[in-house]
Amino acid sequence: MTAIRSVVLGCGSYLPKRILTNAELAAKVDTSDEWIVQRTGIRQRHIAAEGEFTSHLAIQAAQAALANAGVDAQSIDLIVLATSTPDNTFPATAVAVQSGLGINHGAAFDLQAVCSGFVFALATADNFLRSGAFKRALVIGAETFSRILDWSDRGTCVLFGDGAGAIVLDAQQQPGTTSDRGVLTTHLRSDGRHKSKLFVDGGPSSTQTVGHLRMEGREVFKHAVGMITDVIVDAFKATGTSADDIDWFIPHQANKRIIDASAHKLHIAPQKVVLTVDQHGNTSAASIPLALCTAVADGRVKKGDLVLFEAMGGGFTWGSALVRW
Ligand code: ACO
Repeated sequence: MTAIRSVVLGCGSYLPKRILTNAELAAKVDTSDEWIVQRTGIRQRHIAAEGEFTSHLAIQAAQAALANAGVDAQSIDLIVLATSTPDNTFPATAVAVQSGLGINHGAAFDLQAVCSGFVFALATADNFLRSGAFKRALVIGAETFSRILDWSDRGTCVLFGDGAGAIVLDAQQQPGTTSDRGVLTTHLRSDGRHKSKLFVDGGPSSTQTVGHLRMEGREVFKHAVGMITDVIVDAFKATGTSADDIDWFIPHQANKRIIDASAHKLHIAPQKVVLTVDQHGNTSAASIPLALCTAVADGRVKKGDLVLFEAMGGGFTWGSALVRW
């Protein structure tokens, strides 16, 4: 029994040039490099330049992904862009990317699931490809969180950064086993009872302002590991795999302590964990493809490897995806 799978053809990423170090932040708010590194693992983050929008970051990442995949932009018929920091309230940032890539066929839309955005976008594109509705997709996570931070709030401004990452997915007939290349399973969850624990205090319908990110950090931390591990266990059950089968664990890069605790609980060996939070901070929907591209570029992730993604974020939303490279 064969199956259509969404096979990853390539990935690409983009980081704004400006690097903001912990030491620079310590000169602005009452914090220290030691506190930030010890509580989060973050050492620096990238910040978009004035006039550099989420779509600009996304276009750069998408072009890098297309080049890495060795395919032409005109072969893309679906763009799903995960972001919580769109250029405008509407139209979707995805259409700015579509136009920037010179594509005017197929469909392009944004998806908003905060830090879980990339996993939600991957699952959405995968379902469209497997249904036969589209043939080749760009899945992008792109953010300019620096624009929604309250730079006087030390509890949040030290955590986030800007960036973008993208992958090209291609619908391909595969044998229909867990040895197939491509997306093997995805699992998405939400629980809106937690919507006030991590949110932006503005919006077109409520305040007619953009607003700033607000977070009960300890509450997020308390729920994160349980939610992440539950949805990974779902991925293992659905595919008959276990932590031992995983070649690379590429989690959402929010906080090293959350990542370490999740890997430990799941018995995933530390050397299989891809960590970029020290270099990028939390780039929300961009963090997984940024980490993935780092591990592909340095030769860690190779064809045939089993790669596990997970994310958890505002909403709360959380999800997992198991992909054979
Ligand atoms: N520098 C120095 N001190 C700080 C800072 C800072 N940047 N931020 C907070 N503090 C202080 C607090 O004011 C508090 O001081 P007090 O004891 O005098 O009141 C003290 O540090 C402890 O504060 P907590 O919030 O309890 O610190 P905690 O150990 O929980 O660490 C953190 C805070 C890092 C935010 C942690 O709760 C966390 O990582 N939570 C998860 C949040 C997260 O990752 N969110 C990302 C989005 S969701 C996701 O992607 C999973």
